[in-house]
Amino acid sequence: MSKVDKEIDKIVAKMTVEEKANFLCGVSSSATVLGQDNKSRVPGAAGQTYAIPRLKVPQIVVADGPAGLRISPTRKNDKNTYYATAFPVGTLLACTWNTPLVGEVGKAMGHEVKEYGVDVLLGPGVNIQRNPLCGRNFEYYSEDPVVAGKTAAAMINGIQSNGVGTSMKHFAANNQETNRLGINEHISERAMREIYLHGFEIAVKKAQPWTIMSSYNKIDGTYASERKDLLTNILRDEWGFKGIVMTDWFGGYNMIDNPGFGDLNKQVSDVVAQVSAGNDLLMPGMQRQRDNIIKAIKDGSLSIKDVDRNVKRILRLVYKSPTMAKFVWSNKPNLKEHAQVARNAAAEGMVLLKNDANTLPLSTDVGTVATFGTTSYNFISGGTGSGDVNEAYTVSLIQGLNNANFKLDKDIIDLYTPFVAKEIKRAAEEKSKMGMFGTDVGLKELELDRTLLEKKAKEDAVAIITIGRNSGEGADRKVEGDFNLRDSEQDMISQISEAFHAQNKKVVVILNVGGVVETSSWRNKVDAILLSWQPGQEGGNSVADILVGKVSPSGKLTMTFPVNYYDCPSASSWLGTPRANPREVAYKEGIYVGYRYYTTFGVKPSYEFGYGLSYTTFNYSNFTLSSNIFTNKLTATVTITNIGKTAGKEVAELYLVAPKGSIDKPAKELKAYAKTNLLRSGESQVIELTLNPRDLASFHENEEAWIADKGQYQIQIGASSEDVRQTATFSLPETRIIEKVNPAFKEDKVFTELRAK
Ligand code: BGC
Repeated sequence: MSKVDKEIDKIVAKMTVEEKANFLCGVSSSATVLGQDNKSRVPGAAGQTYAIPRLKVPQIVVADGPAGLRISPTRKNDKNTYYATAFPVGTLLACTWNTPLVGEVGKAMGHEVKEYGVDVLLGPGVNIQRNPLCGRNFEYYSEDPVVAGKTAAAMINGIQSNGVGTSMKHFAANNQETNRLGINEHISERAMREIYLHGFEIAVKKAQPWTIMSSYNKIDGTYASERKDLLTNILRDEWGFKGIVMTDWFGGYNMIDNPGFGDLNKQVSDVVAQVSAGNDLLMPGMQRQRDNIIKAIKDGSLSIKDVDRNVKRILRLVYKSPTMAKFVWSNKPNLKEHAQVARNAAAEGMVLLKNDANTLPLSTDVGTVATFGTTSYNFISGGTGSGDVNEAYTVSLIQGLNNANFKLDKDIIDLYTPFVAKEIKRAAEEKSKMGMFGTDVGLKELELDRTLLEKKAKEDAVAIITIGRNSGEGADRKVEGDFNLRDSEQDMISQISEAFHAQNKKVVVILNVGGVVETSSWRNKVDAILLSWQPGQEGGNSVADILVGKVSPSGKLTMTFPVNYYDCPSASSWLGTPRANPREVAYKEGIYVGYRYYTTFGVKPSYEFGYGLSYTTFNYSNFTLSSNIFTNKLTATVTITNIGKTAGKEVAELYLVAPKGSIDKPAKELKAYAKTNLLRSGESQVIELTLNPRDLASFHENEEAWIADKGQYQIQIGASSEDVRQTATFSLPETRIIEKVNPAFKEDKVFTELRAK
């Protein structure tokens, strides 16, 4: 037993039942909904733990995440400011496919956490992007668990390298915002394990987050925070998680029947179920929960052993914290340096979707640039809700282009500037009426005069149009006017393209969005499309870095862009039933999420998973496997050569096609990937990717096991899920049980899952 564990045992022995109950609950000194605790030691942090001064146990502070530290930027009677860096959103970071870079972002973010006196950052968000309309997709990484898990591991390791903690969230399957506080999700054990849990599994094994946040939703009839199979059997026994589990804020409260946060004392979570399941800490912590824990200990319905186990785990977290070490924080993190980290990362995760006739890059002496779209003037750095960082500034596209020395059309700027200012005011007023969880009110578009456009198309060299979207916690997006472009946006694209193309001038669209939008109806009208995502506070500069060619784009999609929203495998069951106020949702698409569906069922997307253009081209050669028979490990090597004229980086993606065994399997699955260094023209790099036994296995529910079927496997290596460059085969001589697990996720409702055969 370690010294710390011995000390912790002594503390627990001295704690009263009341102190234990208090300790299992967070401390909310005001309404801690969405990181609003302004009485906290760190104003604006989301919550804190309970202190026991007589036993020298301090209070530790947790704050949101995940795109940067969320605290109040100003304080009462204090002239200093406490801005944090708004880094690019999670989706963009994943689209870098560059885990060391994600680690650097994490390191910078964790530094701010520590220097602002916070102990644990509430992030990263590792939920699978099941459907493009989820309002919080921007906080999440991918439709694929391998990308999600590897990106999360890099982020967690980066943040925690500072000696502060993370809270990987929302565990698990928190894939919609509508009725998130009680939606009952019917999901098969196979879909849970292969899709919704696998990213969390990778991150736990590679990075050991200090904490994990259980999600609001029910899975197969039981709140995630009350599921022992999830929080103990799988998380701890199977994966080896060592930290604590905390609930999401008011997790386990029945807020479908009692909506809102208004009457929290009338309802309360089932603390006995939560504590016994292994949900250690209840956040933000309510008096009724404490009272109920004490009552349950006294009447024997809650075992003191479970209570002590959870108390000890939380104590171990406190002992690891900077607060326990009496760390003296500066309130002066290096924001300037971190802005540069944000700028570089943002440029690397942007995805070039289209670039006909080398429209991009643009030279700064191309002539004057016409900048359209209200979002060009009001760039969106990140999404809304608890994932919104309070940054000091956001560089707009106009500022970014100016900084890069482009010459901009002043008439157009003068036209937009007052309109945008008025629109920002109107949208803010409208949104404030909706409260914290209001859906985003986008800025309207300016109606453009045809004669003006014709004149400008003659005078200017190129047109840039920005389309913006924002969303966040508490609400999901809509198909019309959000996923699909609004009529005003379609008109703007059509009119500008007609006018500029008539003068042989090019049109570039920037998509400043937090989630997938429809592209197929308008993409043929424009020459280039750059998906900038929500790139953090340096956004405009990062876009300019790409437009001017300082950076060659190397981001690739970590999700599919469908032709039509209704092509999505989850479209027919999205949000659940009854439609108006859904209580139940059946994940009928099963494991066929994202490209697993599109590739298996032959549905052609607008832009496929893994897709992204560069200013240069890459050749794949010398693809070899370490063996053509799988024993315990297989290594694939491939040489990637930059055969274009510009320096650039390439992401090589490895997909596995498994033999037809006894259960349904997707056409292919991503198993590994790597990004090259910056390769100069003509330069090559050998990439090595490894397959382990689990990579060959599918989850067989009947056997409660991961099983690899015998037969021929094909490995495809390429530039996207469709752009396969080289293939090789190997065989597994005998079917193998890779891992036996505990039964979990007993279905509470029978439904039919999608099958390919
Ligand atoms: C969100 C979490 C967040 C927490 C604390 C909840 O409403 O779902 O992601 O960490 O609030 O602000």
